[in-house]
Amino acid sequence: MKLLVTGGAGFIGSNFVYYMLDKYPNYEIFCLDKLTYAGNMETLAEAMKKANFHFIKGDIKDDKLINDLFEKNKFDKVVNFAAETHVDRSVETPDEFFLTNALGVTVLLNACRKYKVERFHQVSTDEVYGDLPLNAKDLLFTEETPIHASSPYSASKASGDLMTLSYFRTFGLPVTISRCSNNYGPYQFPEKLIPLMITRAMANKSMPVYGSGTNVRDWLHVHDHCTAIDLIIHHGKIGNVYNIGGHNERTNLEVIKVILETLKKPESLIEHVTDRPGHDLRYAIDPTKIVNELGWKPIYNFESGLKQTIEWNIENVSWLQHILEGNYKDYYDRMYNNR
Ligand code: NAD
Ligand code: TYD
Repeated sequence: MKLLVTGGAGFIGSNFVYYMLDKYPNYEIFCLDKLTYAGNMETLAEAMKKANFHFIKGDIKDDKLINDLFEKNKFDKVVNFAAETHVDRSVETPDEFFLTNALGVTVLLNACRKYKVERFHQVSTDEVYGDLPLNAKDLLFTEETPIHASSPYSASKASGDLMTLSYFRTFGLPVTISRCSNNYGPYQFPEKLIPLMITRAMANKSMPVYGSGTNVRDWLHVHDHCTAIDLIIHHGKIGNVYNIGGHNERTNLEVIKVILETLKKPESLIEHVTDRPGHDLRYAIDPTKIVNELGWKPIYNFESGLKQTIEWNIENVSWLQHILEGNYKDYYDRMYNNR
């Protein structure tokens, strides 16, 4: 089996690379990544020591590079994690998001079609469904929920999904799509809520909560996302979308308070700042389809997963430090100073 993982130097892609190397020692795993600010070779250091792991630096939008790579390697399956992923950055540079998350996906789809890849899997997000009201607890996203994206990030991901499904319908390309809720775990870039708040609390710095902090996200440990994708690429039905989530809805303030409690830091670090424009209120996934059809079951509950993630960040402080010492400071100042 020759498996191409695009975006494998990022948070979820790298966790998936390690999961697959461990579970399928006979697979040849290729990782293509542009190494944007979010891609990190330090994360892949252990993978690089394996003879069946190959890294290629490149952009999924680069038609020639992609074609040459597919021509040379004749991949059996392709799993696309490569994307611009942060909602706040998508408010600053929407075009970048559209180019990678829609056009880049199309370049991959064309190559999969030309080289008769047996499966293209598009890693998507529950954010393509838009948001749910805070006061209707029984309303969840199912695979039939209409696409109703709110941010340039989610609109660009929805575009990638629609292109993927159109290649199934129009050309019969064997595709699958997964739409997962918010992930957390090892190697997450500290621009996202959980690692950002852990990093700030560890340094006794203020923790910037957008608006009231009552927005709700449905959290899943990255390991459980990886097991779901593994099941889908081996047993999922082509042309199908699978929602992934573990029924772990929490308000942002609830999440932050658990982090403060675990790290034994005072609640006075919490600072309410100006809200994100267009801020989605609530995400909540109904995972019935993947549970019933593929027998998927998460192993982490939110408490055990968050504890493991906080411990990982404490133990891997040098990994974090290298990020914080780079361009991150400019990003943080730009995003949060005078907010
Ligand atoms: P990330 O930002 O940590 O990593 C993205 C990776 O893609 C980086 O390594 C980056 O260098 C690479 N990349 C970006 N543009 C590229 C391009 N043009 N060509 C090649 N590589 C490129 O993101 P993540 O959190 O690991 O998310 C991975 C995927 O999972 C994304 O498609 C995202 O939409 C989806 N997703 C994320 C979450 C979440 O909570 N993080 C939840 C559901 C779905
Ligand atoms: P984020 O991790 O950016 O994921 P997404 O917006 O894609 O769900 O944000 C998760 C939630 O945390 C979201 O409601 C916005 C909020 N948030 C803050 O309150 N402060 C912050 O500094 C960040 C980054 C996010």
